[in-house]
Amino acid sequence: MKVALVGARGHGANHVENLVRLGRTGKVTFIGVVDVAEVDVPVPVYPTLDDLLAEQHPEIVVVSSPPHTHRELVLGAFEAGCDVLVEKPALLSIADFAEVSALAAEKGLVCQVGFQSQGKGSFRRLCELVGSGALGDIRGIGAVGRWVRVDAYYERAEWAGQRGPDGTLVNPYAHAVQNALLLAGIEDRDDLDIELELFRCRSANTADDTSCLRVTAEGAPPIVVATTLCADVPHPPYVLVHGSLGRAVFWYDDDRLEVNDHEMHLATPVDLLENLIEHRQSGEPLLSPLASTRAFTAVVEVVGKAQVPFVEARRDGERVVLDGVDDIVVRAAEKLATFAELGARWTR
Ligand SMILES: NC(=O)c1ccc[n+]([C@@H]2O[C@H](COP(=O)([O-])OP(=O)(O)OC[C@H]3O[C@@H](n4cnc5c(N)ncnc54)[C@H](O)[C@@H]3O)[C@@H](O)[C@H]2O)c1
Repeated sequence: MKVALVGARGHGANHVENLVRLGRTGKVTFIGVVDVAEVDVPVPVYPTLDDLLAEQHPEIVVVSSPPHTHRELVLGAFEAGCDVLVEKPALLSIADFAEVSALAAEKGLVCQVGFQSQGKGSFRRLCELVGSGALGDIRGIGAVGRWVRVDAYYERAEWAGQRGPDGTLVNPYAHAVQNALLLAGIEDRDDLDIELELFRCRSANTADDTSCLRVTAEGAPPIVVATTLCADVPHPPYVLVHGSLGRAVFWYDDDRLEVNDHEMHLATPVDLLENLIEHRQSGEPLLSPLASTRAFTAVVEVVGKAQVPFVEARRDGERVVLDGVDDIVVRAAEKLATFAELGARWTR
């Protein structure tokens, strides 16, 4: 399959590496890159997607440029008859989601969204356990994000730290939100109750760096995602499934799953681009289709419009630490409670 990539630096470097790898196996012919910056790649580079399409005929376009550029690029790829793999957050509003979904349906094309944790053995095993009832009735899903991000993280791109394209739930912990929505079985619902508590500890930013999200929907277990980029002691993000017969802990970045404190054996991960190619060639179901990101997009839209109060925090060298947050994010996911319900001082 002939594949082009939009956006080759930042996260796009991982796509370049993957395309080169798949090129060696013969599954992919990597035909070109679109980027507004100078990039060092082993294929021709074009300044716009239209320029690439004037000379080349990709069958798949991978979009790994900043979030606010996705809509136009995905629509452009569809108009040219290409399937798409677009990075998360695929789109920033439900109106854009509806427009892109409608064009895909009209053209008979598909869009896979870059939630690579959906291809991981841990996630697929956990879905089987939840689906088969092995964990009993699911009382709720919690997720915890506890990272440290230094000044350089916000200086790397114009959109970093800006409300709309960025924010803990929209970008760094998007996987936690999406995994929780999927495990609760509400990823495609449009009748969600979305509660948000967003805060920023860096006055130069407009996006949140500390946040709590609770999503509820009729007949589904509640989800609570509690995240920060201002931790004191960082910890890999994880998702907790609270079942009446068991408790599962899923570290999606590390592809690890524990059920009732037992480490589970897992299948090898499936790459999202390979899955998209297999979908086209043999009808393999997509692991992360656009349709499964409706609820996530609704969260992204609400986050983009929400108030994000500034909270005074402690500066420590290149980082900012919100004292007390390490413990509160863990308790929120355990109790399925919000920061305010747990009495976090920054909510008062
Ligand atoms: N799946 C994941 O785990 C994961 C991880 C990190 C980032 N991402 C996502 O990947 C996307 C890119 O993030 P990033 O941090 O690499 O962004 P970035 O700002 O570093 O930009 C990535 C590349 O896109 C190029 N670019 C910018 N505007 C462009 C345009 N209009 N047309 C073509 N190229 C353009 C930049 O020059 C750069 O090479 C975002 O949606 C982000 O959320 C996903």
